[in-house]
Amino acid sequence: MKITFAEQADAEIAVFVIDEGGKLPESAKALDEASGGLLTEALEQERFTGKSGQQTYAVLPKSASARRAVLIGGGKPKDRDARAQEKIGALLAKSQGGSGYKSLALHVDDAEFAARAAIGAELASYRFDEYFTKQKPEDKPSLEAFTVVCPDEGAAKAAWAPLDAAAAGTRLARDLMNQPPNILFPAAFADRIKELEKHGLEVEILGEKEMEKLGMGSLLGVGQGSVKESKLGIMKWMGGAKDDAPVALVGKGVCFDTGGISLKPGPSMEDMRGDMGGAAAVTGAMLALAKRKAKANVVGLVGLVENMPDGNAIRPGDILTSASGQTIEVQNTDAEGRLVLADVLWYAQKHFKPKSIVDLATLTGAIVISLGHHHAGLFTDNDAMAEGLTKAGLAEGERVWRLPLGSEYDSLLKSKFADMRNIGGRAAGSITAAQFLKRFVNEGQEWAHLDIAGVAWVDGEKSPLDPSWASGFGPRLLDRWIADNYEG
Ligand code: BES
Ligand code: MN
Ligand code: ZN
Repeated sequence: MKITFAEQADAEIAVFVIDEGGKLPESAKALDEASGGLLTEALEQERFTGKSGQQTYAVLPKSASARRAVLIGGGKPKDRDARAQEKIGALLAKSQGGSGYKSLALHVDDAEFAARAAIGAELASYRFDEYFTKQKPEDKPSLEAFTVVCPDEGAAKAAWAPLDAAAAGTRLARDLMNQPPNILFPAAFADRIKELEKHGLEVEILGEKEMEKLGMGSLLGVGQGSVKESKLGIMKWMGGAKDDAPVALVGKGVCFDTGGISLKPGPSMEDMRGDMGGAAAVTGAMLALAKRKAKANVVGLVGLVENMPDGNAIRPGDILTSASGQTIEVQNTDAEGRLVLADVLWYAQKHFKPKSIVDLATLTGAIVISLGHHHAGLFTDNDAMAEGLTKAGLAEGERVWRLPLGSEYDSLLKSKFADMRNIGGRAAGSITAAQFLKRFVNEGQEWAHLDIAGVAWVDGEKSPLDPSWASGFGPRLLDRWIADNYEG
């Protein structure tokens, strides 16, 4: 679906936003008159009040400039925040996408509203259908052109440019997550990253040999039961000042998590195709930054592995030596994400001396119990990072909620045989996982961890912007956080 902005446009579907309890806007008057008052009549039907998201429509006479008029409730103007504006675009894309019509023009009165409605429509029209071979034309969307009509076209386009880039990041993250694990294994993920060079990112991929040389025994341990080679993907966007230390984004990329020898139960194991959600978020964010030519230096690092049970897989009881030199007793091979991140965090610090690091990972089932599907867990000792990430999340509708760290939780990682064990026991599972990561972050290094296991895909009530299995959580949040904190 192509999104455009204009000061005037004709389309088969003309959409007008009605304030709660309000009347037809000025922009609808001409069409109302040309149709002999059919829009005014629609306004009085179907108990329409203009409540946010409510819709009613009129079929228009052949002589009118549009075939159908849609009236959509805009709620009370004072409540119409970015989320409400996005929802209007999303609901329209959903309700009119398969209408049989090809073009729609949504009339709004301000530029910010125009851009927000556009990203709502853009994300709601996402589809992942490449594996359906029997779709008929009528199963596919008809809507091809979504035009937002707004008095200040230039301002609308300017507001849209960064959102357009961010939406491309979300779409890429969804595409990566929705792909099945037989198609998107570590090397295939690395190939997708390599393709981003055409957007101006510098990409480097390390294989097992290189990682062995670096001593990355923790990450390699997770991948050793898989026939698929483990990879480390490194993406650089250097849009900032030449000698400015970069921000590092680190992602867990477990392309499939069976649990390994500590095998997961069967039901819903297929969801573990999404256990690379952190890596997908980082990759999507890097694309967004490149697309809008962000004035910041940012490196994205993703640890790509597959966690399988096998004769050569790691066992509970094995002791791994991480690149940092610290040893880890593996008590549960299903607590593998932290083993991957331990070595990627080390690499990020050693090679890039980053100003700050944010890691994202579908790390624990416990975070789903704590926060459900509407906030990611945020862990950091740095109040400024906590505030910045919280604000960025609220601004873009990818919310995070801070949970504590503390030495009492760290003690739960004590091992009889090694520097630490990879699980902390039943209590506070998301916090002990974060404490584990913290052991691989240098003293004084600014760092935050986002546990996205509850938000990377959403069971139950989903946002209208989120039509497929994968939500694509992350790129919008990260892109906004970098724009607001590192491009001043
Ligand atoms: N990938 C899972 C976490 C997960 C669970 C993500 C549910 C999304 C939905 C992770 O690797 C894992 O298995 N974690 C274990 C840790 C435990 C063994 C300490 C868990 O949460 O059960
Ligand atoms: Mn696991
Ligand atoms: Zn996992």
